[in-house]
Amino acid sequence: MTADRDDNSGQQEYGPMRSFGRRRSRKLSPRQNDLLEDGLRQLSLDLSKPCPADLADLFAGATKDTWLEIGFGGGEHLLWQAGDNPQVGFLACEPFIDGVVKVVDGAESAGLNNIRLHADDVRDVLPWLPTASIARTFVLFPDPWPKKRHIKRRLVSPDLIAELARIVRPGGELRLATDIPDYARGMLAAVRKERSFGWLAREPGDWRARPSDWPETRYERKAIREGRKRYFLRFRRFD
Ligand SMILES: C[S@@+](CC[C@H](N)C(=O)[O-])C[C@H]1O[C@@H](n2cnc3c(N)ncnc32)[C@H](O)[C@@H]1O
Repeated sequence: MTADRDDNSGQQEYGPMRSFGRRRSRKLSPRQNDLLEDGLRQLSLDLSKPCPADLADLFAGATKDTWLEIGFGGGEHLLWQAGDNPQVGFLACEPFIDGVVKVVDGAESAGLNNIRLHADDVRDVLPWLPTASIARTFVLFPDPWPKKRHIKRRLVSPDLIAELARIVRPGGELRLATDIPDYARGMLAAVRKERSFGWLAREPGDWRARPSDWPETRYERKAIREGRKRYFLRFRRFD
């Protein structure tokens, strides 16, 4: 599966279109290689086994809820949330290996035992997860794919929202962010079409400003530097 996604020709031989760009930026140092080999082995989800009915069984520490972060990039948001919410177990997916190494390193340094990873496409994990098993999901600044011919690669689509509607429990939350106005419109349209989530915004400030329990990510900093507006979209899963 990974090999197919590693080629840059675009369309995979099967399944959905590749929604991410590069998987590596530079050669890993020996220490980073060790983190990848040993650290990641311990944190990786084993998708060859059935998912436990209670996701708390995936974590070494006691957890009450499970949250899912899709495309965590450099892991700034994931590590912050995992440190701030030790009672929550985090499942997190990211095919960009440099980011995966940062999270393995950061989790180890901070002594976090509430993170499990899939260093690849989230669409491998979604069908594995039980219905109504996730209390909160984040897709923050997914790859923008701004060119018209690439829009079909955008990760947030009606299909993804339908799958998230299945796994997010009633009363759970979905958080999406982007700095591309037509992607924000597409996100809202996909959620509206699916009809399982209600948008929590009551006034423009609600989607223009990042809530205090939502730390800035590396990609957001880039958007700010380059003068782009950001859209912070929060939705509640209907009962
Ligand atoms: C623009 S970056 C943003 C990263 C981070 N969320 C941030 O805000 O800094 C988008 C990330 O989503 C990841 N991504 C894209 N498609 C994905 C998929 N199908 N499954 C998991 N991650 C994906 C990419 O590898 C990339 O690191």
